[in-house]
Amino acid sequence: TQNIYILGIESSCDDTASAVLHNGKILSNIVATQEVHKKYGGVVPELASRAHQQNIVPVIDQALKEAGVTKEQLSAIAFTRGPGLMGSLLVGTSFAKSLAMALQIPLIEVNHMQAHILAHFIDDASERKPNFPFLGVTISGGHTQIVQVDDYFKMKVIGETLDDAVGEAYDKCGKMLGLPYPGGPLIDKYAQEGNEKAFPFTKPKVDGLNFSFSGLKTAVLYFLQREEKNNPHFIEENLKDICASFQYTVVQILLDKLKKAVKETGIKEIAIGGGVSANKGIRTMLKEQEQKRNWITHIPKFEYTTDNAAMIAIVGHYKFLQKDFTDSSISAKARYSI
Ligand code: KG4
Ligand code: ZN
Repeated sequence: TQNIYILGIESSCDDTASAVLHNGKILSNIVATQEVHKKYGGVVPELASRAHQQNIVPVIDQALKEAGVTKEQLSAIAFTRGPGLMGSLLVGTSFAKSLAMALQIPLIEVNHMQAHILAHFIDDASERKPNFPFLGVTISGGHTQIVQVDDYFKMKVIGETLDDAVGEAYDKCGKMLGLPYPGGPLIDKYAQEGNEKAFPFTKPKVDGLNFSFSGLKTAVLYFLQREEKNNPHFIEENLKDICASFQYTVVQILLDKLKKAVKETGIKEIAIGGGVSANKGIRTMLKEQEQKRNWITHIPKFEYTTDNAAMIAIVGHYKFLQKDFTDSSISAKARYSI
């Protein structure tokens, strides 16, 4: 039997990551999350690419070491070609190209958004795998997308955000509330103890399956400014209720679009990925819909929902089986649709 060892490299945003896969099974999955952005309240592209340059060699070394695999054993190198920040993508792309060339093994380019969806097929991602066709929903700080997935490499985007990503909305709202970056997990935490009906925010009207979160962000901003005029302690006194109300609105927006997507496609199987899939409100909503509407929902292990290289490596594995290789003249692509 053939031994296929794939090294995955991910550097599209602010996480430098590498993973090793043996015949489709995860041997190691290393992520270096860049802390430098915290004090700026968001990702600073120039700092991100510099940090990738510093992290990439140690991260890959560690991935190989933990896997107990030598460079010479590798069958191919899979890397994120895009979409993402150009300066960040370039670091992973150039490194992957040189390494494949030096080792004289195939190079495999991977679309980051496709990888978020195929992450569900990592061997230990979850107890049950999605069945085709399903709806792949990627929600994170950088993405908000609904994808109809007919097969591993047959997928199309049927809805996406026209402005901010859902995680971005969480983080911007967190900033307005004076919470440290990223605000998403904290808003989720406070929301658990608040009254979700305390402050109703209007949902944006967006056609079809697309999303918009910038209106909600502005609505929260104006609401807070108005209330603080009357009561300078408004935020601290109402933090939990504000968080719960904001989260309720986001969950309703997602639910509306998912209901619509299920209706339009006739597909009731939904696989969620991206950092925001950790959200308790969203998880509860999905569980309720399984009961109420017979949906089948999937959320992979946390480490495979946030940016990681295991998902890049699994796409690399499938492409390796198809001999879908690329040559070393390939360049990174900041905008790269599925
Ligand atoms: O996938 P990810 O780690 O990075 C990218 O954006 O690519 O996602 C991070 C995003 C941040 O915006 C963070 O605030 C959000 O996911 N997030 C959450 C939760 N956990 C992480 N948002 C809401 N509720 C959470 N529990
Ligand atoms: Zn991502």
